[in-house]
Amino acid sequence: MSVTVNLSVNGKQVSRTCPAQTTLVELLREHLSLTGTHVGCDTTQCGACTVHLNGKAVKSCTVLAAQADGSEVITIEGIGAPDALHPMQAAFKACHGLQCGFCTPGMIMTAIDLVQRTPQLD
Ligand code: FES
Repeated sequence: MSVTVNLSVNGKQVSRTCPAQTTLVELLREHLSLTGTHVGCDTTQCGACTVHLNGKAVKSCTVLAAQADGSEVITIEGIGAPDALHPMQAAFKACHGLQCGFCTPGMIMTAIDLVQRTPQLD
């Protein structure tokens, strides 16, 4: 069975028809060629696949694309550019927080969500 998913990805409206069991990360990587979001464990443990779904960090390996229908998704590609890094990307770079780089997009998306949801500590 196929489903048609309509959603906003990085500010652009997209529509794709895919198998019903397609996960959000598969939709992003394989149908939309947004390969900055990675799959590490595929079992909701590592966070490499983290994106923002309606403003909150989610592990996109365990969200069905159909569940994201009508939603707003932001991926690592949607937060900055090589010549205009998001402040969190710049902070990771400045603090050598990149490690091997595979999980870094997920860590950055998680860190942005954490900062947005955590009250200022003075
Ligand atoms: Fe590890 Fe999704 S790939 S949590």
